[in-house]
Amino acid sequence: MFERLLRPALFRIGGGDAEAAHEWTLRRLAAVSRSAPALAALRARYAVRAPRTVFGVEFPNPVGLAAGMDKNGVALPAWPALGFGFVEVGTVTAHAQPGNPRPRLFRLRDSEAVINRMGFNNAGAEALAARLAALPRPLGVPLGISLGKSKVTPLADAVEDYLASYRALRDHGDYFAVNVSSPNTPGLRSLQDRAHLDALLAALVGEKPVLVKIAPDLTEPAIAELLEVCLARGAAGVIATNTTLARDGLADVDRPRGGETGGLSGRPLTGRAREVVSFVHRETGGRLPVVGVGGILDPDDASRMLDAGASLVQLYTGFIYRGPALVRAAARTAPTP
Ligand SMILES: Cc1cc2nc3c(=O)[nH]c(=O)nc-3n(C[C@H](O)[C@H](O)[C@H](O)COP(=O)(O)O)c2cc1C
Repeated sequence: MFERLLRPALFRIGGGDAEAAHEWTLRRLAAVSRSAPALAALRARYAVRAPRTVFGVEFPNPVGLAAGMDKNGVALPAWPALGFGFVEVGTVTAHAQPGNPRPRLFRLRDSEAVINRMGFNNAGAEALAARLAALPRPLGVPLGISLGKSKVTPLADAVEDYLASYRALRDHGDYFAVNVSSPNTPGLRSLQDRAHLDALLAALVGEKPVLVKIAPDLTEPAIAELLEVCLARGAAGVIATNTTLARDGLADVDRPRGGETGGLSGRPLTGRAREVVSFVHRETGGRLPVVGVGGILDPDDASRMLDAGASLVQLYTGFIYRGPALVRAAARTAPTP
């Protein structure tokens, strides 16, 4: 039903403008979030229980919504009703910011991929805190909050900037994701280096689980170094991976679009994201839980990610191409830990 009817309609919104379809979807899901009967109907259809505890947090199932879909947390109750076992909001920054000029989101349909250069468009940490404080009831699933650096803040002041967001939001998240891997904020990815990451984790690790989200474009030695810092500083886990700057695996018709600046997600990322998950799992001997994300478009992709060593998985692009049936199917096929 999603792929035959709803998806073609969604892909026509705004003359094919991917961000217009995204905004329409979020508005609909925000409306659903305010309707108890609509939520109950979705829950009856999509919710799956396959519980597990990871970094001390209980998850009703291991399939989460990846960061970037609901940056400002406007449709929070809808996501668990659509089957997600956890939700990561953000990336949010200390200062509200508009992001890059539009267009900045592109579908590459034949490749089942997306390129985005959103640039952390978000209403800011304080606004998100206010929204979360006003949520009428507990969400029923863990809430992750992804933190990034404000564009106006120089790299040298990054720690203070992340800390300001963390302080505003710490009472509201079950875990925090330190996003040092978006390709769309100049210099951000250099925060994956040993010295920068060490300072960042020294400031943030404490009360709540803190996970580090990494880029798929790092070399294995660079990931190994990053993992040493994560282990030494008591990070709760790693989220692997963010979007890639690589352009491998595109269908011929999508090659011109592949020239758009930004991070690529979806099918072309499946193999590389799984490799990174497997590397992190091996390198740490399983001591650092991994959230596997990147190119999960079928339930088998989720199973393989879990087999590669992920404790949890997330998806974004798969939701665009497959809809909520993917979430349910992936959660159902997840093996009991
Ligand atoms: C439009 C868009 C916006 C995104 N924004 C964020 C973000 O704000 N923070 C973040 O950590 N990841 C962001 N991501 C990356 C996703 O969370 C995910 O890591 C990546 O897309 C790979 O997963 P996928 O292939 O299932 O989409 C974004 C991805 C897309 C497609």
